[in-house]
Amino acid sequence: MAEAFNEIPLPAEKALRYAAVAEEIAAVLDGEPNVVARMATVSSMLSNSFSQYFWTGFYVVDETKSDELVVGPYQGTLGCMRIAFGRGVCGTAAATQVTQVVEDVHAFPGHIACDGRSASEIVVPVFGPGGKLIAVFDVDSDQPAAFDSIDQEWLERILSQTFSAAA
Ligand code: SME
Repeated sequence: MAEAFNEIPLPAEKALRYAAVAEEIAAVLDGEPNVVARMATVSSMLSNSFSQYFWTGFYVVDETKSDELVVGPYQGTLGCMRIAFGRGVCGTAAATQVTQVVEDVHAFPGHIACDGRSASEIVVPVFGPGGKLIAVFDVDSDQPAAFDSIDQEWLERILSQTFSAAA
């Protein structure tokens, strides 16, 4: 059945779609060690799999300032350049190394509004092969409460399979 624009899939359909895109991402990136290529591919493939994804991408730990995130590969409208650890949703995910699921971004203390249309978001910490934090993966939606434990479970799995295991 055709899906209306921006419609959030039902839980079973959402899990099936994540499972399919997880396999596709692994197949496309097989043998590709470049981290920028991996991040760009994950952003593109996930963004194109879910119409409720409004902004999809990475903020990477800055090599020169390890307590600051800088924007990495993404899909969507212009993102802000830098986010200090502890600031907003991305900075909180980086500082705590715990996934943040935010049903209403306007109720989140210190939320950074790069685009006023963002209503809810999920931010997942991304770890490299040595278990070191290398980035956070941020997905924003223009719909409230767009993300739940299914998104969390699958995004954590996809990011772990893509960045924690050696290519
Ligand atoms: N919403 C994020 C900022 C990044 S942008 O929305 C792309 C935050 O508060 O961390």
